[in-house]
Amino acid sequence: MLNQLEGLTTREGTAADKAAIMHILAQTPEFTPPEVVVAEEVLDCYLGNPVDSGYYVLVAEIAAQMVGYICYGPTPLTESTWDIYWMATTPALKNRGIGKTLLTLAEEHIRAKGGRLILIETSSKPSYENTRGFYQARGYDVVSTIPDFYARGTIW
Ligand SMILES: CC(C)(COP(=O)(O)OP(=O)(O)OC[C@H]1O[C@@H](n2cnc3c(N)ncnc32)[C@H](O)[C@@H]1OP(=O)(O)O)[C@@H](O)C(=O)NCCC(=O)NCCS
Repeated sequence: MLNQLEGLTTREGTAADKAAIMHILAQTPEFTPPEVVVAEEVLDCYLGNPVDSGYYVLVAEIAAQMVGYICYGPTPLTESTWDIYWMATTPALKNRGIGKTLLTLAEEHIRAKGGRLILIETSSKPSYENTRGFYQARGYDVVSTIPDFYARGTIW
């Protein structure tokens, strides 16, 4: 990691954060346009009912500028399993500790809620190499890969 960013703060996301979160999603080269649409749907679900939607959103800021967000929630129909649904940091500020800060906070929240297992679905595409490295550096193991999952004839 490069130097940890000074002045990094975190808090729960609110409706006022939507445009800034969408800006980060649109800037993130790993995400395809249809993925951004689904990320927005999930975000809207949370913003429409932050208490009971089944989603939680935390955001990270520096000097009131949004620099990252994470969305997670309990996995439906499971006992205490949780999903990290989406996360992204401002591309220009990758590898500066923002993702780690957000993921650690989410993990602490999940633990406090009695969560016992966290799942993250990600891609084996070459463009996700850093993402996979990030999760593995944070202690997540690969438990399954599904060939042809996102599209036929691919390894991801
Ligand atoms: C994945 C992402 C959220 C990580 O956030 P970040 O702010 O860049 O990550 P951090 O700086 O907090 O942490 C970087 C950590 O990952 C590790 N890491 C990053 N790339 C790595 C790689 N290729 N191999 C091994 N480790 C890697 C670093 O070593 C560091 O760990 P350390 O502090 O223990 O040394 C961010 O890069 C991102 O938005 N990626 C694009 C969107 C995306 O893929 N989102 C997830 C969808 S499932």
